[in-house]
Amino acid sequence: MKESSPLKILFASSEAFPLIKTGGLADVSGSLPRALQNLGHDVRLVLPGYQVVMSACKRRRLLSFEQEGHEVTLWQTTLPGSRVTVWLVDCAEFFDRPGNPYLDAQGEPWHDNAQRFALFCRVVARLAMDQFGLGWQPDVVHCNDWQTGLVPVALRHEPGRPALLFTVHNLAYQGLFSRQLFTELRLDEALWRFDRLEFHGQLSFIKGGLVFADRINTVSPTYAQEIQTEPFGHGLDGLLRHIGGRLSGILNGIDAREWNPGSDKQIAQRYNLRTLNKKGVNKVALQREFRLTPGEETPLLALIGRLVEQKGIDLLLAVLPELLQQPLQLVILGSGNRLLEQQLTELAARYPGRLAVAIGYDEGLAHRIEAGADIFLMPSRFEPCGLNQLYSLRYGTLPVVSPVGGLADTVVDADTPHGGSANGFVMAAVSAEALLATTRSALSCFHDKQRWRELQHNAMSEDFSWGKSAQAYRELYRLAQDDRDGERANGRV
Ligand code: ADP
Ligand code: GLC
Repeated sequence: MKESSPLKILFASSEAFPLIKTGGLADVSGSLPRALQNLGHDVRLVLPGYQVVMSACKRRRLLSFEQEGHEVTLWQTTLPGSRVTVWLVDCAEFFDRPGNPYLDAQGEPWHDNAQRFALFCRVVARLAMDQFGLGWQPDVVHCNDWQTGLVPVALRHEPGRPALLFTVHNLAYQGLFSRQLFTELRLDEALWRFDRLEFHGQLSFIKGGLVFADRINTVSPTYAQEIQTEPFGHGLDGLLRHIGGRLSGILNGIDAREWNPGSDKQIAQRYNLRTLNKKGVNKVALQREFRLTPGEETPLLALIGRLVEQKGIDLLLAVLPELLQQPLQLVILGSGNRLLEQQLTELAARYPGRLAVAIGYDEGLAHRIEAGADIFLMPSRFEPCGLNQLYSLRYGTLPVVSPVGGLADTVVDADTPHGGSANGFVMAAVSAEALLATTRSALSCFHDKQRWRELQHNAMSEDFSWGKSAQAYRELYRLAQDDRDGERANGRV
C-alpha cells in the first residue's frame, strides 16, 4: 500500500531553476519536484530568499519569526511554469545581497556562509516538524548538497520526524568551516566526533547529511561507486564505504520541455529527428554571432560549463593548439576560475574566426550553442551526473566525454563492439592525450555523413526525461521511511 500512496515531500535546496541557478543542482531542483508532483505527490520546495529571487517573484507573506536572534519571514510563491509551491526563507541579514548565492564579488565564499546555511537548515527542520502551524507536515524531507546538511542533524532526535533523504550532487563541495564556527553555531558538543560532524579538525556540513539521513544517494550509479574509492572520495570514501548499504545512485533526468530542440524558443531554427537537416541554420547563426567563418562543412565544437578544475578545462587548454591545426571551430561559454578565464580569452585572441570564448553566464546562449554545435566537449575529471551531455544528446550535438560518473552512464562510444546504441565518444582515460585522440575520432566520424546521422539518431531518440528517475526516487523515499521505522523499532532514535 505504502508504495503507491501519495507522499508529502519537502524538497530543500540552495538553488532552483528558473529562480536562481549556478549549475546543475538548480536544473534538478527545478524539475524533479515537478516530476514528483506529476506522479501525484504533494511537493513543497524550500529555498533561501536571495535578493534576485525576492525581487523577481510575486509572493505572499506567511509569517515572521525570530531564529537564533535573526529576523526571518517565510514567503510563499510558485515555481514558474509549474504548480509546485515554493517557500522562501527570507532573512535580510544573510540573503538580501546581490550576486552569486555562495560567492562574493571577488569570487570568494561569503564570509558568513556557515551562519547563512545553518539558519536555512534550522528553518527547514522547523518546517519539517510543522512548528509554524502551517498544517502541513511532510512524510519525507529531501535534502540536497552540503547547504542542507544540517537538516538531518536538527531532526535526528525529533519524535515523529519525517524520513530523510540526502542527495549528493557533488562531493567536492563539503561545507567545511572552523572549529570556532562549530561552537558559534551552538551545535551539540557530542557531534564533534570523526564519525559525526568533525572532518580533520573542521566542521563538515556534508557529513550531517551523510551520517544522519536515513538514505543517501548520488546522481548517477557510477558516481555512487566511484565516491567509495580514494581517487573520487575527497577524503570521505571511508565513511561512504561504511554506509555503503544506505548509498545508491539515481541518474538525473532533464526538463524535457525546457531542453527540446523541437519547441525551443531561444534558438534560431527549431528542429527534431525528422527535420535534422534544419539544425544547420542554428550552426550558421552561431557562427555569425561569434564572428566565426560561416560554413556548414567545418566541424563546430563547443563547451559550456563552470570553469573549474572538475570540468577538465586544463586538459582542453593543453590540447587546443594541436587540435586547432585541423580545420575546426570551437565556442566556449563559461565562468569561474579567473586564471582559466584569462587563459581562454588570451587563446581566443590568437585564433580569430576559429576560437570564440564568452566569459559569463547566459542561459539563452547555452541553448543556442547546444543547437548550433556539432560536437560537445566534456572532459571532466569527475562528473556526478552532468546535464550538458544529456542536453547535447537531445539536440543531436554529439558529446565527447571522459569515462567517469554520469558521463560513463549516459554516453555510449561509437567504437563499442555493440555500436548499435552508440551516441557519442568516450575517452579511454581522463587525460589530455585521450581527449585529443577521442576528439580526433569524433572529427573523422563527422565527415562520415551516414554514420554521423546514425549516431545523432540514437542520441535524439533516447528518453532522458524524469519519468523513470522520479519513480526511482519514490522507491528510495519508501526505503528511507523503512529505515527510519527500523531505527525506531531498534530503539536507536
Ligand atoms: P554542474 O552542475 O557541475 O555545473 P551540469 O552539467 O550538471 O554541471 O549542469 C550545468 C548546468 O549549468 C547546465 O544547465 C548548463 O547549461 C549550465 N551552465 C553552466 N555554465 C553556464 C554558463 N556559463 N552559461 C549558461 N549556462 C551554464
Ligand atoms: C553537480 C554535478 C553535476 C550534476 C549536478 C546536478 O553540480 O557537478 O555533475 O549533474 O550537480 O545533480
